[in-house]
Amino acid sequence: MSSPKRASDPPYLVETEAGKTYFWCACGQSKNQPFCDGSHKGTAFTPVSYHATTAKRVFFCGCKQTANQPLCDGSHKKS
Ligand code: FES
Repeated sequence: MSSPKRASDPPYLVETEAGKTYFWCACGQSKNQPFCDGSHKGTAFTPVSYHATTAKRVFFCGCKQTANQPLCDGSHKKS
């Protein structure tokens, strides 16, 4: 598996909690999108951490093509 699985076209909107660290799924195989559930084991992918300093709405990438991991950069509209 050299390219990530496209988990979703639109990004995932998450209300983050201040002080909490999230682990975004980079491989696209997690059943708990957009977060890692360990399904990447045996692949070249590892999750990407995101530390929320404040509580806010965050769009996590679902297509796994973003150049601004783990956040949506609009790449889902290009491919
Ligand atoms: Fe996808 Fe962990 S399950 S990076």
